[in-house]
Amino acid sequence: MFDVVGIGNLNYDIILTVDHFPEFHEKVNAKGASFGLGGAAGNTISWLAHMGLRTGFIGAVGNDDIGKAHIRYFRDIGTDVSGIRVVEEPSGLAVIMVRGEDKRIVKYPGANLRKELDFGYLSRTRHVHLSSNPAEIIEMVVKFAAEKDITVSVDIGEMPIPRDVEGKVDYLMMNEDEYRRKFGSLDLSLSAAKNVVVTLNGGGAVLRDENGDTFEVRGLSAEVIDSTGAGDSFDAGFIYGILKGWSPVDAAKLGMLLAYLTVQKVGARSAILPIEGIVKEAERLGMELPFGKNP
Ligand SMILES: Nc1ncnc2c1ncn2[C@@H]1O[C@H](COP(=O)(O)OP(=O)(O)O)[C@@H](O)[C@H]1O
Ligand SMILES: [Mg+2]
Repeated sequence: MFDVVGIGNLNYDIILTVDHFPEFHEKVNAKGASFGLGGAAGNTISWLAHMGLRTGFIGAVGNDDIGKAHIRYFRDIGTDVSGIRVVEEPSGLAVIMVRGEDKRIVKYPGANLRKELDFGYLSRTRHVHLSSNPAEIIEMVVKFAAEKDITVSVDIGEMPIPRDVEGKVDYLMMNEDEYRRKFGSLDLSLSAAKNVVVTLNGGGAVLRDENGDTFEVRGLSAEVIDSTGAGDSFDAGFIYGILKGWSPVDAAKLGMLLAYLTVQKVGARSAILPIEGIVKEAERLGMELPFGKNP
């Protein structure tokens, strides 16, 4: 049995911090560079595995050094890799240029386009988390999960929401700019999803639960060094809390903490801590979260 199966992309991120972005035919020197394994759902699952949950992944990598590195990393942290296909296309890549809070990204999806759903694999989990997936995959997974009593979170990002399954999504997640572009305002009643979680620029989140009640979580804001993966970290904290039976507000607070830690380091996974380290950070910041309590 798994607690969480992630479905999404596995990429290799090359992150360059610059003072200005190159213009036409211009070369610029980066101030700093960092590279490592990335991909939104992969980042979220990496946090959850470090936090002690039983994790699996559905995705695809190339038969190359990057693909091998993904599989080795997941094995090392205890994430099951039997749902990851190794295919002939090269592994996915992302080149990310960061200038303060602004970033420019070029992505190569490559092997990621070859992921295949395995419903037998999915039936072994309590929860499934989707991030950066085509509409067909979202639709099939949400319908399957609804039939099987598996809870689903979808970080929909910039993608359109598949309308016929929106109401079956347990936790619909995105950032405030993405929500405003989809719905025209930050009115969380406009989405049909059961619960809506929208992260705020500068840190924190607003949420709407199944009763229509809304909540706001704020209080942790850091100077951003590199926001790559911060939304994925938020998702991990939120999912962890929900699966431990915490209130959505406490879950969002943990999400806020993990995003806060992530924006202060370069790289999508460089802030990842085991659960003991997260408990210490929460204490240091004076946050009261129900770690270790039985709901
Ligand atoms: N200054 C900040 N301090 C703390 N957290 C921040 C800050 N700025 C943004 N965040 C958080 O970082 C996350 C960024 O996620 P998102 O905007 O979805 O970007 P991405 O999906 O590219 O990682 C959100 O959870 C947001 O609330
Ligand atoms: Mg995001």
